[in-house]
Amino acid sequence: MSILGNQSVGKENKGSALTIGKEAREAKAKDSSVIDSTIGMLFDEEGKFYTFKMVDKIIKELTPRQKFGYPATAGDQKFHEAVKHWIFREYYDDITSKMETRVIATPGGTGAICSALTNYLSLGDKALFPNYMWGNYTQLAREANLGYDTYELFDNDGNFNIDDLRKKCNEMKKAQGRVLVVINDPCQNPTGYIMKYTEWMQVVDIANSISRDGTPFVLLYDMAYIDYDSRGFEASRKNIDLLTNLGDNAMAILAFSGSKTLGLYGLRIGAEVCICKNKSDADEFFQANEYTGRGKWSSSSILGMNVISETLTNHKEEFEAELAHAQKMLIDRANLFIAEAKKNNLKTLPYQCGFFVTIPCEDPKAIFEALKQRGVYIIPLKGVIRVTLSSITNDEIVRIVKIISEVLAK
Ligand SMILES: Cc1ncc(COP(=O)(O)O)c(C=O)c1O
Repeated sequence: MSILGNQSVGKENKGSALTIGKEAREAKAKDSSVIDSTIGMLFDEEGKFYTFKMVDKIIKELTPRQKFGYPATAGDQKFHEAVKHWIFREYYDDITSKMETRVIATPGGTGAICSALTNYLSLGDKALFPNYMWGNYTQLAREANLGYDTYELFDNDGNFNIDDLRKKCNEMKKAQGRVLVVINDPCQNPTGYIMKYTEWMQVVDIANSISRDGTPFVLLYDMAYIDYDSRGFEASRKNIDLLTNLGDNAMAILAFSGSKTLGLYGLRIGAEVCICKNKSDADEFFQANEYTGRGKWSSSSILGMNVISETLTNHKEEFEAELAHAQKMLIDRANLFIAEAKKNNLKTLPYQCGFFVTIPCEDPKAIFEALKQRGVYIIPLKGVIRVTLSSITNDEIVRIVKIISEVLAK
């Protein structure tokens, strides 16, 4: 009999991007021609880890207390406002005047998702995830003692499958009397899909139609890659403004990632932001999620919070100029990948932009092994392999498309 508690038997962090990424890094250290297309971090065209100079400068200027002291679990007002201004941008006044909003600092977007899953479903309930998803969602659900179901991300025409989302939400409502659905947009991980404004409008309609009779509906909006949207800042924020149409009993919880927007991956900082109609729901959000933070990780990184507050409040323009450079680098890679894939007849799932692109295949694990033999590391997922564009150079994109096409043709 295992010494582990019943709920922990069988846990194994196998096949995650972090584990395969470690193997890839070790292989590349021995042979520089190896392509490490695994972990979602941004690297420049020389293969060097991408750092925002402004972020680096601010870290050096903070006092020891600002870097290492204990923060409040939820973070301070300056952090909350900095995050809200950043993610609402020109819609800040509209959103905050029409809706109640609250912010809790979390260890990355991961912490925000963990806290939302912990507080908005009852034990044993199921969360609703996309069928192509960031693999960690299922681990986060299990850690919250939840199950999960999936909705089809795409319809037959490669658009967001709003009909399946509606159907699955109704099934959840019937089965458990509450719904929590995760939408990861823009630049969805792993596909790189970007939802259209009209698709977001329909999502808000679903939330309102499900919750009209008092059924709690939580839209957990994982916006980890929001700042890499090839349409620019405005388009993604316009979608967030649609959330002001949410009615009673519906709540949007936004998971913001300091890892992706500011390159603070290992610092573990992000935020959980709620948008809802009623003050009592918003107050309850703050209390329950602050409690979870204290009970699970005590507090998030004060260094992370202060870097975000300072960068996004007092050095926004300089940071945005650097971010524009990072965005362009990624968009150029995305365009190159699309062109090379076309040339090599390599089919991908619908892809617009972002850190990742996916290629459907019959046996992802076998393809992963075959690619490894050719010095290429990717992530095998269910029914697809995921190529990470953020971590490879344009030269490597040309090589990787050719190698993958050859391996798939065998
Ligand atoms: C889709 C998605 N959501 C959330 C995260 C969370 O990132 P972090 O916890 O580092 O902010 C990631 C990280 O890779 C991701 O890909």
